[in-house]
Parts: sequence; C-alpha cells; structure tokens
Amino acid sequence: MSFETKPSSGHVFWLFGLSGAGKSTLGAGLAGKLRAAGIPVLALDGDALRQGLCAGLGYSDEDRAENLRRAAETAKLGLASGLCVVASFITPLQCHRDLVTGIIGRNYLSLIYLDAPFEVCRRRDAKGLYARAASGQVQQMTGVSSGFEAPTVPDLLLHTGADEIAASMAQVLAFARSRLSGNKL
Ligand SMILES: Nc1ncnc2c1ncn2[C@@H]1O[C@H](COP(=O)(O)OP(=O)(O)OP(=O)(O)O)[C@@H](O)[C@H]1O
Ligand SMILES: [Mg+2]
Repeated sequence: MSFETKPSSGHVFWLFGLSGAGKSTLGAGLAGKLRAAGIPVLALDGDALRQGLCAGLGYSDEDRAENLRRAAETAKLGLASGLCVVASFITPLQCHRDLVTGIIGRNYLSLIYLDAPFEVCRRRDAKGLYARAASGQVQQMTGVSSGFEAPTVPDLLLHTGADEIAASMAQVLAFARSRLSGNKL
C-alpha cells in the first residue's frame, strides 16, 4: 500500500516570517475564509504545536528544524486526506524552508513570506517577547539572538509591516483562489 496518493483538492499555505509579522493573524483569517467557503481546513500554528506535539523542543536551529519537520509531516497527512492546510511558523532559515519543501513537495505547497521589518515587529511586540528578550528573559529570540534569513523567491510576498491587515488578507485570499481553482472561495 502506498502513502503517496495525490490529493485532488488540498493545498498547503505555509506562512512564515518574524515573530509579530502577522502569521497567526492572517493564518486564522485565511482558515476562516476557506471554511466559510466549505473547504475543509487543518490549521497548524507554531504556538499550538509547541504546547502539544512539539512540547519539549527548544529554539536551537536543530530543535526548530525538528519542530518544523513534525509540522510538515502533519501538514502532509492533512494534504493526503484532501484538506487545505494553513501553517503559521517562523521557519527562520532557508534550510528549514527546504526541509518543509522536501517533506511536502512543491506541487501542493505555497511558501508565503510575511515581510515585516524587525523594527516594526519589535515595536508591535504582540506577545511581549521582544521586551522579554531585551531583558534577557527570553533566549534564542528570532531576529535578536537567533538568525532569520529572508527568502529569495517566495511564492507570495506580503508587506505586513506596512500594509493594513485587510489589504494583506485580500492579497492572501486572491493568491489562495489562484491556487485552488475549481473551489468556490
Ligand atoms: N498587515 C498585517 N498583517 C498581519 N498582522 C498585522 C498587519 N498589520 C498589523 N498587524 C498586527 O501585527 C500583529 C501580528 O501578530 P501575530 O500574532 O499575528 O504575529 P505572528 O507572526 O503570529 O507572531 P509569532 O511568531 O510570535 O506567533 C497583530 O497585532 C496584528 O494586528
Ligand atoms: Mg503566531
């Protein structure tokens, strides 16, 4: 029995970028729109996985890779079940993006980069992490004490540091529509 069965309608939308770039905000928005259109969705968010499936992993490059490997394998199972997957993970290094791509494959994966400048994310500090990193309470903070490599050619680039949420949502929705032709989205 093969586990390589190709899904007919699923797709993985993998949102990545700095903490505070808007992955969870846009990921939840996209998942909601897909569901409202009757498209079954598996939503995977970094914070939720780290509370369960990936509990015990830290933030070294290696642990981040293992976190992402588990996330990508989960996404692949969702895809094989015909689901759309919306995955929101920092995915900081090119080798991490390559790992995800190697697991899921290129055909049903879109890598969506949320490009918000570090200073904007630090000022937003949506979860207070940048303040805690500055005072030494958080180690290996992406963009502070742990690396982030901007991608060269993402499938979609969103300027979430400058654009309003509604504008970014409209762009990601239009992109999703283009990848899910045949579905009413
Ligand atoms: N264009 C935009 N797209 C998304 N979020 C935006 C945008 N403009 C402003 N924001 C704000 O930026 C913040 C992004 O926070 P969010 O929790 O979504 O980031 P995140 O990328 O999931 O971070 P983390 O990696 O820490 O989970 C929210 O407060 C959101 O309202
Ligand atoms: Mg988030």
